[in-house]
Amino acid sequence: MRILVAGGAGYIGSHMTKMLLDAGHEAIVVDNLCHGFRDAVPHEVFVKGDLRDGALLDRVFSTKRIDGVMHFASFTQVGESVARPSKYYWNNVANTISLLDAMVRNGTPPLIFSSTAAIFGEPEYVPIDEGHPKNPANPYGRSKWMVEQMLADYGCAYGLRYSCLRYFNAAGADPDGVLGERHEPETHLIPIALRVASGRLPSIKVYGTDYATPDGTCIRDYVHVADLSRAHMLAMERLLCGDASRSYNLGNGNGFSVREVLMAVSRVTARAITVCEAPRRAGDPARLVADSSRARTELGWRPQYAALDTIISHAWAWERKMAGRHAAVA
Ligand code: UFG
Repeated sequence: MRILVAGGAGYIGSHMTKMLLDAGHEAIVVDNLCHGFRDAVPHEVFVKGDLRDGALLDRVFSTKRIDGVMHFASFTQVGESVARPSKYYWNNVANTISLLDAMVRNGTPPLIFSSTAAIFGEPEYVPIDEGHPKNPANPYGRSKWMVEQMLADYGCAYGLRYSCLRYFNAAGADPDGVLGERHEPETHLIPIALRVASGRLPSIKVYGTDYATPDGTCIRDYVHVADLSRAHMLAMERLLCGDASRSYNLGNGNGFSVREVLMAVSRVTARAITVCEAPRRAGDPARLVADSSRARTELGWRPQYAALDTIISHAWAWERKMAGRHAAVA
């Protein structure tokens, strides 16, 4: 299959692009590099561009037949979305309308949309299945839920078929060591803890120790980026076989507290992690754990790297590479 990967130079998009190419498929990455990295994608599949540029998208669609689209191009920082909602609604919603309209103008290929557990807000029950009420607690989550609702309307009006994949906590790095997580600034737990382990940061803050969880810290469901990419592949194959639109929650169904993650980081890296207790971070639900039985049953999704230590060890290999690069430049 030939897939247009919007946002394919970012964290999850670049892993997806590599998986597609490794499997013998074709990919065309469109990315404006505002958060992506040029060196995360092979030169010959890369087009620098913005999704709001409908003429550029039309050129991409008319150059070669596109079988499907995977859309990773969005901003993802919850805190920033609260401070700068305009940025989030323009990028995550308005630019998606531009992409969808270009798709409709060009034969309406099927779409895999990167959605998030943030559409559910504070959970009413865990594990969270697809039918859980959608009550996003911040502009980031709302932007993703708005797009999910738009997709349903585009489905009714224009015959668009799509899958929404709602990631829980994407983590880990390419098992081959070629790619990994690069966010600047980095806000995520595992990469920050690994920067402490490598000596790039002095300590990590634990945001909140008074949650209603066994050790008082937040519980999350960490899912390997390669397993997420695999789910996209399976979902696209289903759509290309003519299946109807569907949404899937993607996680391992195992919750780990912040303290458990930090212990695992210490274990995997064999380094002590200096921890500072800090107040709660606004908007953090106490516990987010996925019920992914629908993805397992309908897509045949079987996470290969479900163990937390495996997720962390792949991310650690990547962090050592990054720390080496920074040391060489310094
Ligand atoms: N945390 C710390 N210290 C840090 C960083 C994080 O204690 O330095 C804590 C957070 O407070 C949270 C947990 O670690 O309790 C996980 O935080 P992350 O920032 O790694 O991930 P989030 O759960 O906040 O967010 C992720 C994605 C979002 C998505 C959300 C959906 O980054 O885009 O999952 O579940 F919306």
